[in-house]
Amino acid sequence: MGGKGKGARGKLIVLEGVDGAGTTTQKAKIVEWLRERGEHVHGTNEPSDGPIGAMIRQILRGRLVASTGEGKASPIDPAAVALLFAADRLDHVKNEILPALERGYHVVCDRYVVSSLAYQGLDTDLRFVRQINDKALAPDLTIFIDVPADIAMARIEATRVGRDSFEKLAIQKRVAQAYKEILADWRGGRVITVDGTAPIHTVTRDVRQALESLLG
Ligand code: TMP
Repeated sequence: MGGKGKGARGKLIVLEGVDGAGTTTQKAKIVEWLRERGEHVHGTNEPSDGPIGAMIRQILRGRLVASTGEGKASPIDPAAVALLFAADRLDHVKNEILPALERGYHVVCDRYVVSSLAYQGLDTDLRFVRQINDKALAPDLTIFIDVPADIAMARIEATRVGRDSFEKLAIQKRVAQAYKEILADWRGGRVITVDGTAPIHTVTRDVRQALESLLG
């Protein structure tokens, strides 16, 4: 961040999509474009770079596991993982997102509450996931980058060495379906869907159009 923001509070803009949809790439493009427009902008992501986010990343990579007490490793309970994501979010909002917004910075966040609903809702009660995310600040705009699971998975296979625990085609198909269902009756602020199968610059153009209508 750095520098002094403008008087008005910034907007919270969230990017969502299955793994490989391009949310991280588009976050970087938006941050760059907003800066070029002379806006104050802070780019961030979830899991966050805070302490709970660091723990979550270890869990996703299978480097942090529970133990049954008989020397056997056992995955961390999915409801506990859902709680960690929700806790990370509240910490992220309090210590990073809100201070930036209040200083007049727009915050562009790669993943937020809808990720928890789409991913943790797969093996945890969706009502529980909604409930524990109830206190998270509502975004001003959520941009859903729509890419079918098989295309997104092919991108991951072509570009990444390691895999997070969710990066398997069968899971991504369920995540893609969950995103559709959750966003169909979403009441947590404005949502815009863009076609993420187009070339990167076309997706960026569509995302920019969505933002122009928000920022004026
Ligand atoms: P990333 O690949 O965008 O860094 O995200 C890491 C993984 O975390 C990705 O597979 C999506 C998953 N995730 C959740 O399961 N729940 C959440 O609330 C968030 C923010 C991410």
